[in-house]
Amino acid sequence: MTFVDKLQALAQTANRAIKQAKTLDELQELETRFLGRKGELTSLLRGLAEVDEKERPALGSLANEVKVKIESQIVQARVGLSQGEMQEQLHAEAEDVTEPGTRPPEGHLHLVTQAMREITEIFSRVGFVRTRYPEVDWDWYAFEALNMPKDHPARDEWETFFIDAPPSAKMGKVVLTPHTSNAQVREMEQKKFPIRIINMAKCYRRQMDITHVPMFHQFEGLYVDKNVGITHLRGIFDYFVKQFFGPTRQTRLRPFHFRFTEPSFEIDVSCGICDGTTKLPNGEKCRTCKSGWLELGGSGMVHPNVLKAAGLDPEEYSGFAFGWGVERSYMMKEGMQLDDIRTLYKNDLRFLQQF
Ligand code: PHE
Repeated sequence: MTFVDKLQALAQTANRAIKQAKTLDELQELETRFLGRKGELTSLLRGLAEVDEKERPALGSLANEVKVKIESQIVQARVGLSQGEMQEQLHAEAEDVTEPGTRPPEGHLHLVTQAMREITEIFSRVGFVRTRYPEVDWDWYAFEALNMPKDHPARDEWETFFIDAPPSAKMGKVVLTPHTSNAQVREMEQKKFPIRIINMAKCYRRQMDITHVPMFHQFEGLYVDKNVGITHLRGIFDYFVKQFFGPTRQTRLRPFHFRFTEPSFEIDVSCGICDGTTKLPNGEKCRTCKSGWLELGGSGMVHPNVLKAAGLDPEEYSGFAFGWGVERSYMMKEGMQLDDIRTLYKNDLRFLQQF
């Protein structure tokens, strides 16, 4: 085999091998194999020493052409392969942006918040504005101004969590409000008539059983102006009860006693389960109510002493007030069948998600 033959054979083998290379690594190996310092072309060139001196330059430049050719083939193949590899990588790492995602869990307002909004809305339609008065207040607003002097036994029901804060000579100690009635005197002091407010706030009492929790919510209505009478009170209650509980529900005023209202009443709502009949359609006795009625909460005409405590003349102004529990009212809704009030605050999603 002449030198030229060997050169051509090498060019051919290299050409074929480069075409067949499948990866960049393989190409790298071929480059070393053919063009490297110890590569095939280099060792072939060493053979030049044995050829005739006259032929050497021509053969040398021929060998150089082969070298350049192999080099350019490798460069081309490398471009091709790296494009291919990039495509493959892109393909492997591709994400389908049109694929539907995973929905994050969606929450909703707590039942009690829903109830508060509904109550606010119902009262706003007849001109009552929601106000906010402190949930931590002076003894004066929580008791004394409400016609409950110190040490009066009527306080027993409410006197609960006192705050370890310095008492005021005029206002007394600081207490977590046991009812929303502290709004009464605070609102009347502003003397902006007519007063038509709903104060909704947290209340605290020392109690815990299936119908009581130590922290709960009340909504306190107050309507004070000239010539406000019991008929207004009745009208507003009938309106609220029909809106909140349903058009067939009735109200009943039952005489009661509160220090801050005179006369005072407990408001009852006809039972939605037996429709006030005490009997279920199948003849069984209704277990939701005792007598066809459910107790909603207290109310009455604002006591003259309370008007006076706010600086109003009882001869000129009169009004009514009521204070009912948000949770309790919500549980009395038709179809609620909630037999333990504490369930509302257990934060069990299996329960809360149903509403
Ligand atoms: N504050 C009373 C309670 O918590 C309810 C009430 C409010 C009664 C307003 C009469 C007037 O039980």
